[in-house]
Amino acid sequence: MMASRDDSTGLTVRELRVVFDTSRGPIFAVDGVALDVAPGEVMGLVGESGSGKSVSLRAVARLLHANARVTGSVRWRGQELLSLSDDQMLPIRGAQIGIIFQEPMAALNPVLPIGLQIEESLIAHTTMDKAQRQARALQLLDQVGIASGATRLAQFPHEFSGGMRQRAMIAIALAASPALLLADEPTTALDVTIQDQILRLLLRLKDELGMALLLVTHDLGVVAETCTRVAVMYAGRVCETGPTADVFANPHHAYTAALLRAMPGSGPAQAKLIPIPGMAPRLDAPSPGCAFAPRCTVSEPLCTTTRPPFVQEATRSSACYGRARL
Ligand SMILES: Nc1ncnc2c1ncn2[C@@H]1O[C@H](COP(=O)(O)OP(=O)(O)OP(=O)(O)O)[C@@H](O)[C@H]1O
Ligand SMILES: [Mg+2]
Repeated sequence: MMASRDDSTGLTVRELRVVFDTSRGPIFAVDGVALDVAPGEVMGLVGESGSGKSVSLRAVARLLHANARVTGSVRWRGQELLSLSDDQMLPIRGAQIGIIFQEPMAALNPVLPIGLQIEESLIAHTTMDKAQRQARALQLLDQVGIASGATRLAQFPHEFSGGMRQRAMIAIALAASPALLLADEPTTALDVTIQDQILRLLLRLKDELGMALLLVTHDLGVVAETCTRVAVMYAGRVCETGPTADVFANPHHAYTAALLRAMPGSGPAQAKLIPIPGMAPRLDAPSPGCAFAPRCTVSEPLCTTTRPPFVQEATRSSACYGRARL
């Protein structure tokens, strides 16, 4: 368990579990996640494909499919979100908590012009009149780097390129100036110039509006540059959290260490990249011990039988028996 702190302002997630009921039995996609995001903080969420990053974000925004069983606690500004009705959640999602999805096409309405989709968010969450909404929509497109805004606002999602769709979705998520933005790989489909522009925009909004950002990305370079703190996920669990610079310089979990060794440009210039051996873990039959143990170079017998406890230090926490051997 992480140290308790004032949870009346930001996001506090504890013991979050998501089990999907499928025809082949339960899938334990998120298995006891704890996260804190303070106002104005940029928190990175990393971990290999299938580790439960997107499902965690969707659980926070209460946007999971009906086959999901969600337990634990998601407190936002002191309010428990998991016990709210769908109606009670409406004024929070979109207005206070914005979300950028990993798949832009699934999030955009294919039969509505982009401009109207931005306006819908403004109608739902602000008191702006039509002229103000149109000016704001133009401003948003400009901010996310879409030129010829007036023409673009009248176009449909299929008339946009993939990267432009991703940026349109970012514009919609930012429309109501949310206090917390859940951003799931927001810049993956973008070229480096636009990626840089979007990241700088998000950081500016953090500074100007005190917006908090929970940023999912596979790019550890982006994490190093933009995230104050980072949480590393493996097999539905957070294995380590802490200030980004500390975690990257001196990982406390064997998976974090392996992830850093496998990433180009993250270690010393001459360091050889070492891919993580072995297979991704099974989520239908969670290990009683550490899920990373079968792939770990410093594991001991205890790792396969007993789940390592989360050890909380001053600013960091981790769950690894092999830390001293890293
Ligand atoms: N509706 C669902 N029913 C059953 N299983 C699901 C459902 N949604 C997600 N999962 C499973 O949950 C696990 C976690 O998925 P998630 O999308 O959170 O991974 P991720 O960490 O975001 O990966 P990536 O980096 O590839 O985006 C995966 O094994 C996925 O197949
Ligand atoms: Mg994902």
